[in-house]
Amino acid sequence: MDHPSDDFRTIAEARAYGIACQLAVGVEESEAESTTEILLEEVLELKRAELRRRRDTLLSAAQRETLRGFLERRRSREPVQYIVGHWPFYNLEKLLVRRPTLIPRPETEELVELVLRQFEGAAADRMPKRMMEIGPGTGAISIALLKQWKKFSTSCLAIELCDHAVTLTRENSRLHGLQESLEVILCDFRLWVQNSLPIPAQEKFDLLVSNPPYIPSDDMLILEPEVSDYEDRAALHGGEDGMDLILCILRAARV
Ligand SMILES: C[S@@+](CC[C@H](N)C(=O)[O-])C[C@H]1O[C@@H](n2cnc3c(N)ncnc32)[C@H](O)[C@@H]1O
Repeated sequence: MDHPSDDFRTIAEARAYGIACQLAVGVEESEAESTTEILLEEVLELKRAELRRRRDTLLSAAQRETLRGFLERRRSREPVQYIVGHWPFYNLEKLLVRRPTLIPRPETEELVELVLRQFEGAAADRMPKRMMEIGPGTGAISIALLKQWKKFSTSCLAIELCDHAVTLTRENSRLHGLQESLEVILCDFRLWVQNSLPIPAQEKFDLLVSNPPYIPSDDMLILEPEVSDYEDRAALHGGEDGMDLILCILRAARV
């Protein structure tokens, strides 16, 4: 299919154009529809229901230009989250997301839910006072938990291998006013547990949480372009059988 014509004027025409652009590069129809609507929401600063009600509203020249730029990036299969630059996560209306830090997945929200359920109804003195996250990425998990447990004054040490993720976790913790309770250090957890860094590894934690890289080498070859071309390999690849960091964490936790 050729490049669809970009001669759109109304919201309905822009929507049809956005979907056609993405179908042309192999995006599935339902994904093409939902991502187009997300991009339109961002460009027009309108909620989804409003977009659908105002199908005949004209886009300004600036809005058309911005949408064309966004769709050009989608044609290269850039994830929509990186294009808009923020995404909701669990109890956080807005979390900054930026290439190549891993975009938090819906399954990561399930992990947060699982942790919260473990402590549901617990007396205040049984709540985690000090937690550790290994590989915070955007900071999604720690920030969601710290926000939920604010009244218990829980604090967190996060250990992250990649400097772009350290920067983003710090930005997100500031965005949510949690910079005092979330300390992020740039370090390889494997070295940290060996005590081969000038950072003490003796501290005890009440909770250890992580969504470590777990994709085995073979599966790294069959990832969707949105993942393989944009997200950091260090966030995805878990070694030959996917278990490298997982085993290291389990050993450190002495499970
Ligand atoms: C699957 S991502 C999870 C990111 C985030 N916690 C989430 O759930 O969206 C794994 C994270 O672990 C980090 N990481 C990978 N190996 C690490 C290591 N050896 N030490 C510390 N962090 C590591 C990656 O840079 C990445 O940010």
